[in-house]
Amino acid sequence: MLIQATEQKQDVQPYYEIPAQLKPFIFEHTIVSRSPGRINLIGEHTDYNDGYVLPAAIDKAAYIALTPRVDNEIHLHSIDLNDTYTTTVDAIEKTKNSWPNYILGVVEQFRKKGFDIQGFDAALTADIPMGAGLSSSAAVECATAMALNEFFNAKLDKLTLVQMSQKAEHEFAGVQCGIMDQFASMFGKLNHVIRLDCRSMEYAYEPFNMDGFKVVLFDSSVKHSLGSSEYNVRRSQCEAGVAMVREFYPEVISLRDVSMQMLDDYVLPNDKLVYQRCKYVVEERDRLLHACEDLENGDMEAFGKKMFETHHGLSKLYEVSCPELDFLVTQVQDNPAVLGARMMGAGFGGCTINLVKEEAVDELIAKVGKAYHEAIGYDCKAYIAKIENGTGLLQK
Ligand code: GLA
Repeated sequence: MLIQATEQKQDVQPYYEIPAQLKPFIFEHTIVSRSPGRINLIGEHTDYNDGYVLPAAIDKAAYIALTPRVDNEIHLHSIDLNDTYTTTVDAIEKTKNSWPNYILGVVEQFRKKGFDIQGFDAALTADIPMGAGLSSSAAVECATAMALNEFFNAKLDKLTLVQMSQKAEHEFAGVQCGIMDQFASMFGKLNHVIRLDCRSMEYAYEPFNMDGFKVVLFDSSVKHSLGSSEYNVRRSQCEAGVAMVREFYPEVISLRDVSMQMLDDYVLPNDKLVYQRCKYVVEERDRLLHACEDLENGDMEAFGKKMFETHHGLSKLYEVSCPELDFLVTQVQDNPAVLGARMMGAGFGGCTINLVKEEAVDELIAKVGKAYHEAIGYDCKAYIAKIENGTGLLQK
């Protein structure tokens, strides 16, 4: 069933526990919110091209405890980094230190909407590994947005909170990200993946039957500084390709509307690199739709094969992989216990996502860990991702 992303009730989620380290920061009027990281099964670098994505929220999350103050000061504290940042409501600006930006960027969006910002204290903790491509920044933004929505009694719907969080990432973190990460964090649903049409913002929850297999993430522990600049470059290459096609087809708005034939006719003769980038996106757009049919037919083998194809495209055409991620995928490629694997998220580091037969998980983690250490020289961590609910309040 397709749903338009409109208002949903922001119920308190008592079934998620408040982490012990956050409790000293909770008082009578404290608002506590939780927002998870995400995985994405397939549909990578398609969101900002008006395509589809297939993400889900996971069992790793960011938590914020927000307590009103009587003055106009903002005191932010990261429990995990043991770091504090202080400012006032009228002096909110981008900071050099990255973590406060994810909170301040969202505060700024409320200010822009005309909300009268008062002072507050916010304590932050998260068990989402940072820089692992699991969208820890989107989780912090969405947790902040949900808490501030309650704080101001703003009654903004979830999609608006998602869009404000995405804007915060554009303006305070400098990454022109699409909408997938914030949407998945906010709208995630237990045991379901979200099939989101990033053009119409219609979405459907698809049951994700994990009987007999697990989602294993191998964290390359690589975070290339290239990440955000190359991300923005890919975005403009896609736009360049669209502009070449639009000269002949004025109705074309994004790569969503472009066929392979149009790319062959109007992009290939002009710019081979732009062609290569656009080709990946157009193929991935269609691959996702076929992968959804596989899911509906319960054909996880076929679904997994498409994940390998996505990796190939991301690595060879879109060129957002790196040797460490390629190594992790190559390691599992011919293993019959692995249905599918690929790099996940923006690229240049972070995790691979693997669909692995349940009985083989432990052995695979040991095997890949050993091979990675021998070849790359340091450890790769492994996480087993469970699919959980999206952003919610734990106390209000
Ligand atoms: C990052 C961005 C998303 C999306 C992915 C690639 O995670 O934040 O919007 O573009 O990369 O699919």
